[in-house]
Amino acid sequence: MKKLTYLIMLMLGLLAVTFSCRQKVSVDSDEQKIPVYLDESKPIEQRVEDALSRMTLEEKVKMCHAQSKFSSAGVPRLGIPDNWMTDGPHGIRPEVLWDEWDQAGWTNDSCIAFPALTCLAATWNPDMAALYGKSIGEEARYRNKNVLLGPGVNIYRTPLNGRNFEYLGEDPYLASRMVVPYIRGVQQNGVATCVKHFALNNQEKFRHTVNVEVDDRALYEIYLPAFKAAVQEGKTWAIMGSYNRYKEQWCCHNQYLLNDILRKEWNFDGVVVSDWGGVNNTEQAIYNGLDMEFGSWTDGLNEGASDAYNNYYLAAPFLNLLKSGKVKEEELDKKVRNILRLVFRTNMNTKRPWGSFGTEEHALAGRKIAQEGIVLLQNRNDLLPIDFTKIKKIAVIGENAVKVMTVGGGSSSLKAKYEISPLEGIKKYVGNKAEVVYARGYVNDKLRKKDNIKQDGVEINDVIDTRPTREITAEAVKAAQNADMVIFIGGLNKYDFQDCEGNDRKELGLPYGQDQLIGELAKTNKNMVVVLISGNATAMPWVNDVPAIVQTWYNGTEAGNALASVLTGEVNPSGKLPFTFPVKLEDNGAFALGEYPGNSLNVKYNEGIFVGYRWTDKQKIKPLFAFGHGLSYTTFTYGKASIDKKQMVGNETLTITIPVKNTGIREGAEVVQLYLSDVESSLPRPVKELKGFEKIFLKPGEEKNVTFTINTDMLKYFDDKQHQWVAEPGDFKALIGSSSDDIRSTTDFSLR
Ligand code: GLC
Repeated sequence: MKKLTYLIMLMLGLLAVTFSCRQKVSVDSDEQKIPVYLDESKPIEQRVEDALSRMTLEEKVKMCHAQSKFSSAGVPRLGIPDNWMTDGPHGIRPEVLWDEWDQAGWTNDSCIAFPALTCLAATWNPDMAALYGKSIGEEARYRNKNVLLGPGVNIYRTPLNGRNFEYLGEDPYLASRMVVPYIRGVQQNGVATCVKHFALNNQEKFRHTVNVEVDDRALYEIYLPAFKAAVQEGKTWAIMGSYNRYKEQWCCHNQYLLNDILRKEWNFDGVVVSDWGGVNNTEQAIYNGLDMEFGSWTDGLNEGASDAYNNYYLAAPFLNLLKSGKVKEEELDKKVRNILRLVFRTNMNTKRPWGSFGTEEHALAGRKIAQEGIVLLQNRNDLLPIDFTKIKKIAVIGENAVKVMTVGGGSSSLKAKYEISPLEGIKKYVGNKAEVVYARGYVNDKLRKKDNIKQDGVEINDVIDTRPTREITAEAVKAAQNADMVIFIGGLNKYDFQDCEGNDRKELGLPYGQDQLIGELAKTNKNMVVVLISGNATAMPWVNDVPAIVQTWYNGTEAGNALASVLTGEVNPSGKLPFTFPVKLEDNGAFALGEYPGNSLNVKYNEGIFVGYRWTDKQKIKPLFAFGHGLSYTTFTYGKASIDKKQMVGNETLTITIPVKNTGIREGAEVVQLYLSDVESSLPRPVKELKGFEKIFLKPGEEKNVTFTINTDMLKYFDDKQHQWVAEPGDFKALIGSSSDDIRSTTDFSLR
């Protein structure tokens, strides 16, 4: 009996062990069999389909619209995270409340403010764009944002557009070359760029309603190339639609721009995000290419129907149409596939780096970009850099020497960890080499609080000065009289109707009586430097009265240090203008042909492809300062351009080489620019167009051969009748120079 009991016990024990092993195996196999959508070894499209198949209708619809000011829902049940968007192109916006524009009052979200993108464009150095993208991408990654709402690449059509400071200038080739490295730099952090505002958002006035009438040649040759490069070369994972209309359809849901061009012609596989408040119609939002709806019932700056998210066009209305069968679920699935792809590329990419935030490394990156972007416009008698053997007392004059510029301007406004003002920077770099005194000089006309940003709990107010203008002027003139040098620091600022989203400027001239003051100061002290801070061209009636003029930008955290390092000569300026400075507004194509700003419903781009220098070349207008202009503290000579063949046949390429030498006494950088000219063409073409550039760094006496390879794509124009790019056989000229109006060598060739 005992033996039998023992045997039964043994059998039961064996059974238990076998069962638990099977369990373990099954548990193990369950553990091994992770869902495909979570398996990063699987192709992303397979993961997308698997996740899609697991989602309910409601979960899919929730993904397509905001759930808060800057987030949209993931799928909590499946462990798919929310999507978190953040402004902006120049730095990571401070946290806002869930459903408000107001600051959330966090104490750990003070960012590094990088230079505005006009400055980046003015560097003409793609390496700076790569550094910029990497740095800002690290800041976004650290703040756990997976979509950066930038960069902006809308073309600079007029010098009054309030948001030009956020963009890359007037030339599609320069903008294209500079946006690609920025995108790659950001996305290497597992953060998506959301290139904006697609498309034709070239003015702020009437931005929410205006329909843009533009011919296909201008659309394809001027306004689309930077977006196309962003998609096809930068591989941006997101695009933001613009508020305005095109062909009478809102650009946030536009058959032509989003379905026909972006998806079909360019094969874009990312997400289309609306601008905040840019969606106006459920049907169009469903069928015309939009994937994610944000900010409805806001103007992107204010307003907001609180907690309206379920009423969004792509929320309940969309869900009801799906449930009623009026809209097929495949329309929803198209959107959700794009969004899931975004999630797997960003938030659910477990191998992406961790980012970093508010670092000295990022601040120094911003300083370097700013130093390379500052443009020396004029330097008579080599007044700059400051000669401290002669200059023992400097009068810094102007409100912009002390004004906070990282705050304001609209959605790109920031809460910077710190911001070095021009006055602070000058005092630091001058040190004990000279005495520095300051006078306000002029006062802006609004002393309002700035964008209610708080720094350490305290609202940043303007530097208030309520003295009468004549007193402030007299003080400045007196300071100028008693100084060896005057450094006037003025320009524009980030207020409404200056360089600010939501409105355009009303005039080309400087505000607040600066021109008159500059005139008086110039009479008082011949050693006068004018430094203009702006994101737009400005008129300079005093240009012949002032020996030295520096164009600088909204350069963020390290602005003052960057400027001072150039003025004192530690850094040799190498920036070149990314847009034309016209003498007067009528010298700009949009104004000359009378269609800016149009009216609230329509604006016609009558100037067509003739934007910027393309217009001044065509009309033989001499600009105040030309596109591509910028001086150095050294000099460069160009040798004669040589070409390896005079004829290009079919798709052959040819090579142009030109020696460039630093003939000065200090090292410096020069941006060698290549323009091509189609001598005779069936359709009207600009006199010349930028098709190549290279920034070279040369020591004194050093010479370098700069080489450009010409291919047929560079010769093409867009034939709107054939709807294709055409390289027309015939004669061409290659013009190589230091600026669009400073051509140093020309050579001919032909296409057969
Ligand atoms: C704004 C801007 C856009 C910004 C968005 C979110 O209206 O047009 O550039 O990213 O809203 O702030």
